Amino acid sequence: MNFLRTNDLLRGELEAILEDAMRFKKGGEPGKPLAGSSVGLVFFNPSLRTRTSMQIAINDLGGNPVVLEPGGNAWAVEYRDGAVMDGDKAEHLKEFIGVLEQYVSAIGVRTFAQLNNWEEEMLDPVLSAIEKIAAKPVINLESAMHHPCQSLADAMTIREKFGEAKKKVLLTWAWHPKPLPMAVPNSFALAAAQFGHDLTIARPEGFDLDAELMDEIAEQANLNGGSLSVTDDPDAAYEGAQVVYAKSWGSSANYGNPEREVREREKYRGKWIVDEAKMANTDDAIFMHCLPVRRNVVVTDGVIDSPSSVVLQQAVNRLHVAKAILARVVNR
Ligand code: CP
Repeated sequence: MNFLRTNDLLRGELEAILEDAMRFKKGGEPGKPLAGSSVGLVFFNPSLRTRTSMQIAINDLGGNPVVLEPGGNAWAVEYRDGAVMDGDKAEHLKEFIGVLEQYVSAIGVRTFAQLNNWEEEMLDPVLSAIEKIAAKPVINLESAMHHPCQSLADAMTIREKFGEAKKKVLLTWAWHPKPLPMAVPNSFALAAAQFGHDLTIARPEGFDLDAELMDEIAEQANLNGGSLSVTDDPDAAYEGAQVVYAKSWGSSANYGNPEREVREREKYRGKWIVDEAKMANTDDAIFMHCLPVRRNVVVTDGVIDSPSSVVLQQAVNRLHVAKAILARVVNR
């Protein structure tokens, strides 16, 4: 069993993961389901929360985490089929995964979007290639398009705060000095829809999430008793919100042209920030962000340091969700 995207799982399966995670957090014994197993954690990109929570979770479950950084403590890896490997990549993904899975029981992979070619990256190329090659379970630790471990920790945090009732949830784009990948907003919106919340996505014109994914989010909202709306008004969007989730992402139209993107987004600086005035228009909303976050750029100190902020609770929940996912995925 892989864990790649929340919409590969039914709502009941997601609910079961959250229940396990909440039980583990309360001190319920997860046991040692990974005893005698090693899990490979492959980080093509930097991480604090994902790397630490996964390593500790594997260790707590009795397993042995093996962390590899292609191009750092492991050979640089080529993933393209048919590539003539006469550049800086010493090993192909086929051998990298083929060898690694001789040693481990599951493989977690972090592989960010490169923000070069939208048509290619919307297909989640590295994760898709690994999915095809690997015979052992694969866990997505954030790919070009999805970050399901984060979105389940976010769903758990909302549930801890509010219980199971659906909430008015705002996902707001935020200004940031450079374009960032869409994995977190994609997965947050998808999971919010799967859990039946009333979701509003606020973003400037031109910063839509992937059209096919938006169809899926709308379908999931319908199926699960929630709703989806989209606005380009960064102030009105906060009206009555109970959850405010901030994240910046790049425009797909400017993939491969970061200079144009930076020029075009400059007009949103200071306007698309989560501040005290906007939060005052909410229904006493909690503030959420996956972290890392740029203070006084994406969110003011006043908001992130306020009692409304649950960013550290989200980070704590990454550990418990990681255990719940590992216990399900490994050895099945
Ligand atoms: N939120 C998150 O995935 O953090 P890291 O990039 O530090 O793992």
